[in-house]
Amino acid sequence: MGFTYADLFAGIGGFHLAADSLGGECVFASEIDAEAQRAYAANFELTPHGDIKLADTSDIPNHDALFAGFPCQPFSIIGNRLGFEDIRGTLFFEIARILKAKKPRMFILENVKQLTGHNGGHTFRVILDTLRELGYHPHWKTLNALDFGLPQKRERTIIVGFLEDVPFAFPEPEKSGNLKDVLEPDDAIDPKFFASEHIVKKRANLHKSAFTPGIWHENKSGNISSYPYSCALRAGASHNYLLVNGLRRLTPREMLRLQGFPDSFKIVCNDRQTRKQAGNAVPVNVIQAVLKAAISALKQEF
Ligand SMILES: C[S@@+](CC[C@H](N)C(=O)[O-])C[C@H]1O[C@@H](n2cnc3c(N)ncnc32)[C@H](O)[C@@H]1O
Repeated sequence: MGFTYADLFAGIGGFHLAADSLGGECVFASEIDAEAQRAYAANFELTPHGDIKLADTSDIPNHDALFAGFPCQPFSIIGNRLGFEDIRGTLFFEIARILKAKKPRMFILENVKQLTGHNGGHTFRVILDTLRELGYHPHWKTLNALDFGLPQKRERTIIVGFLEDVPFAFPEPEKSGNLKDVLEPDDAIDPKFFASEHIVKKRANLHKSAFTPGIWHENKSGNISSYPYSCALRAGASHNYLLVNGLRRLTPREMLRLQGFPDSFKIVCNDRQTRKQAGNAVPVNVIQAVLKAAISALKQEF
């Protein structure tokens, strides 16, 4: 099934990769960060528009689907009433504004797992009520990248909505991925990715891993644990937050693989930028599975 889509808060194109693999055609993308725009343009031959707040809806082509992994901005600005008038000033308002004007048949939104519990559940209720007010039937679930072929524990709230009341069901967990498929061979790793001897020794004194390969994770209190998969990549994490076998950082290519980006994805930005971009991205496999289920639900309706 061919369909058109708008890619909001596009980052480096996690939604774009998933949608194109299922017959999608991107008609509009928006991303404010110049380096992410550059990476997107190098890979998709389409330079995203900048700040979505400045986009006039008359300049956005009509589309069948809208995708947005919107930033996990604090929603403290949301007032006490529920619905559209309550969300002004938030980036979610920008999504609602475009849904209201363009009325795509479906959307997929992605955010952190904690979104559903934020402010005692009030934020999420406002989001769902706003979507209903706009005429959509929203469905939501927390999905984990680990359940969709990727060796990364990354839990995210996914909201899928349709104008029609279609029989949508979220995909069931599939298989988990294998770290061995993600890690580059040791002899191909640039020495700059290895942690200092001091850090390696300090970690080894604190932790013995049961897993090889394994990813060692340092939490906020400095405790070390390790798993046969990666903990969630984070855009703003400290440099040595995740260490492969307690020895070295992940390379940019490995981080992109952990998010389901194929090796054909061109890396055009420096390590620091690519690390931030990979940490911000949506796992491609998760969106592929959700979008497949959404397309199948739409087909059953017609
Ligand atoms: C959570 S990330 C989404 C990443 C994307 N799903 C991907 O796969 O790479 C949110 C993105 O929204 C962008 N952003 C934040 N404010 C924006 C705005 N006002 N207009 C457009 N993009 C914005 C950020 O630069 C960031 O790349």
